[in-house]
Amino acid sequence: MPTVLVNGVNREIKAPSDTPLLYVLRNDLELTGPQFGCGLAQCGACSVLLNGKEVRSCITPLSAVAGKEVTTLEGLPARWAKQKKLTGPEAAHVLHPVQQAWIDEQTPQCGFCQNGMMIKATELLESTPSPTIEQIKEAFTKSGPSPHLCRCGTYTAIIESVQRAADIMARSIL
Ligand code: FES
Ligand code: FES
Repeated sequence: MPTVLVNGVNREIKAPSDTPLLYVLRNDLELTGPQFGCGLAQCGACSVLLNGKEVRSCITPLSAVAGKEVTTLEGLPARWAKQKKLTGPEAAHVLHPVQQAWIDEQTPQCGFCQNGMMIKATELLESTPSPTIEQIKEAFTKSGPSPHLCRCGTYTAIIESVQRAADIMARSIL
């Protein structure tokens, strides 16, 4: 029975090893942040971090994540708490700056694509703490498996939210 490290916890999975990670996350582990959009690695709704890099979980088989760390939208607060060495109630109640920025900016419309947008923003800000608008556009349209698509057209709000998240992160440096 495969064991997968998801959001810092080792989970035993009964599904066959060729099962898409997205199905395992949603159906076996009840982590419903990642969404099923296209199922073809074309939209980004299903994105998660695999060892800190965005992957499309709809086309990533369970066998590909053995021995690696999966972080879903649900795991972002704990990821941030670990990076900031927060413990106790502080760690329990913190939101990831990307999530806080998305709330502050009221970014989503229907919300369906926003899991992938926040995962991509997290990946970008971990490598580029103060991205330019061009770098943000590049990250969401050209880097990684394929573009992130939003049928509601929230692209401008997403750029502003990434900038706000970068600002929250910068202010959180002790
Ligand atoms: S559902 Fe995976 S990229 Fe669209
Ligand atoms: S907010 Fe509706 S698809 Fe992006």
